Amino acid sequence: MRKLVIVLLLAPLCGWAAEAGYRLDSSPHDPHDLISLQAGARTYVNYCLGCHGLESMRYGKLTDLDLTEAQIRDYFMFTADKVGEPIRTVMPRRESKSWFGVAPPDLSLAARSRSADWLYTYLRSFYRDAKTATGWNNAVFENVAMPHALWTLQGERAYDRESRKWTEIAKGIQSPAEYDATVRDLVNFLVYVGEPAATTRKVIGIVVLYVLAIVFVFTYLLKREYWKDVK
Ligand code: HEC
Repeated sequence: MRKLVIVLLLAPLCGWAAEAGYRLDSSPHDPHDLISLQAGARTYVNYCLGCHGLESMRYGKLTDLDLTEAQIRDYFMFTADKVGEPIRTVMPRRESKSWFGVAPPDLSLAARSRSADWLYTYLRSFYRDAKTATGWNNAVFENVAMPHALWTLQGERAYDRESRKWTEIAKGIQSPAEYDATVRDLVNFLVYVGEPAATTRKVIGIVVLYVLAIVFVFTYLLKREYWKDVK
């Protein structure tokens, strides 16, 4: 029985290890860096929103990143009329499914379901592959249905799965270091989107602990009261 429990506890880890065959780079994002978060939001709107929504977020929430409502309207709001609206994609779901085979998922929780390290590695690991429908493949996500949305920035590369060697085919607008920084900011933004309420949640946790402590005192007093005469 105990063995079974151990196997069950380890099962998710094994699944993770099997999928993670490619070594993930650790994501250097900094959730306190507002400039980086703003840059990430801008890259997201320009390169990702065409296919992926962030429906758990409203445009107005971007004021948390030190952006004014006027800036949000002018530079970010391409898919809504009011700042109170959620950040939707313009991509119609049914069509996108027939175009890509898979509808591009909403990315509100991507940083939580995949991890920041996974995203940081994934967005830097696209390579040219003539055998796929989009002409792109990914070292972390084999046969992914997504084309390399940032290829003009990163350029084009080839990858040999056997030897794990990368070779450059064409340069992008950005140098490798600049591209890493662009992806760092983008991942920073996606982590923020997945956790915009993290601080509120911590406060709620503390309040709950206090309430439990008070309830405990009352329960204890009540118990003493009940058992007083039973001796
Ligand atoms: C042309 C449409 C398109 C664009 C633009 C695009 N994606 Fe995708 N993306 C897809 C599709 C389709 C999938 C589903 C891939 C699959 O499941 O094989 C996907 C999958 C993903 C996933 C994996 C989700 C998961 O957990 O399975 C992530 C993360 C992602 N995209 C991030 C991005 C980011 C960040 C950008 C902007 C730089 C972006 N995408 C731009 C179409 C797009």
